[in-house]
Order: sequence, then C-alpha cells, then structure tokens
Amino acid sequence: MKKQIALSIALIVFVSLLNACQMNTTTPTNTDALTIPKIFEIAKQTSGYTWYKKSDAYLPKNGVSGHIEVFQRTRYDATAATQLDANGKVKAGAVFPEGSTIVKELVNSDRSISGYALMLKRKADPSADADGWVWGYVTAAGAERHPLSSKGNGCIACHSISGHIDRTLMNVSNP
Ligand code: HEC
Repeated sequence: MKKQIALSIALIVFVSLLNACQMNTTTPTNTDALTIPKIFEIAKQTSGYTWYKKSDAYLPKNGVSGHIEVFQRTRYDATAATQLDANGKVKAGAVFPEGSTIVKELVNSDRSISGYALMLKRKADPSADADGWVWGYVTAAGAERHPLSSKGNGCIACHSISGHIDRTLMNVSNP
C-alpha cells in the first residue's frame, strides 16, 4: 500500500514536471519577424525619438558619409537613446540594447525624403547579423532598397571602419 502511494506521488510529480517543461518549449513563432512594410512603418514614426546631438538639423554629406543623399539626419528611439550622452552623441564603447531602433533619414537637396536607413537590434530576428542588428533600407515610398535577407551584407563592411561604436558611425562622420 505504502509503495502504491509513493508511486502515485512520483507519477503526479513527473506529470507536473512534464507539463512545466512543455510550457517552456512551445515552438517560437516568427510573427514578429521584421519585414520591409514593418520597417517602413517604424521609419516614419518620429514620436519618442531623440536626434543625434539633440538637433534635427539636416547634416550635409561629408567626406566620411557613405550614403549618396546630400543631407541626412539620425534619430534614436527611447531604447537606443539610453546609449547617448548628455550632448546626444553615442557614448564611447556603447553596445545598443535589444529593441534599439536607429533611423537615418536620407534627404534630397530640396529637403524631401529620399529614403530611410535603419539599424534595429533584434537578436532573434531571421534577418539579424552576428551582432544582432537588422539592416533596413527603404525608399520614401517604402520599397526595399537593399535586401533585408542579406543581413547587412553591403552595409557592415563600411560600418566597421575605425571609430565605429557597435557598428554605428555618426560619431565618426559628425564628431
Ligand atoms: C560606403 C559606406 C557605407 C555604406 C555602404 C553604408 N553606410 Fe550607413 N552610414 C555610413 C556613414 C559614414 C554614416 C554616418 C552618417 C553619414 O555621414 O552618412 C552612416 C550612417 C548610417 C545610419 C545611422 C546610424 C549610424 O550612426 O551609423 C544608419 C541607420 C545606416 N547608416 C544604415 C545603413 C544601411 C542599412 C546600409 C546598407 C543598406 C548602410 N548604412 C550602408 C556609411 C555607410
């Protein structure tokens, strides 16, 4: 009889453990994976963002700039902005936390938007590179300008030049 009770208890414990394990091993769905329409949607949002050096001025393309447009300006969402110092520059040695979004507006000479370049820290995203960055590049109309699936191939080499901070370059081109 004692043996039967002990066995029943063992069985209950085993079943509960099994259930607990199953709860943690639910197959992750990729419904949150970034797509070009989602990236375009994010790019157009401006509320809650902080401008580089706290200024929304259009910065002229200079010798270091790698994007063809004559002007550009860059903003950081609240998560990314935790890595900016009191002057709005990226802190030395910063590593942007998961969820960070950086949007660079690429601007024509008449101040109209030509497109958006984005860096989004989304480690688990299928389009993320080894550092967890997803590299998004869209036109002003939301069309893909560089393949998301390339995982930043075509962006990363340039974004790895001397002085980059977690692959970001604003501090290099506009110190
Ligand atoms: C030829 C070099 C070069 C290439 C290629 C390049 N970039 Fe950049 N990028 C820069 C530089 C330099 C800056 C700093 C701002 C400036 O002066 O243009 C920058 C800035 C940015 C920023 C603002 C955040 C920051 O501080 O770096 C984003 C976002 C960005 N690039 C995304 C991209 C994406 C996405 C691609 C690929 C589709 C890409 N870049 C390809 C050189 C490059």
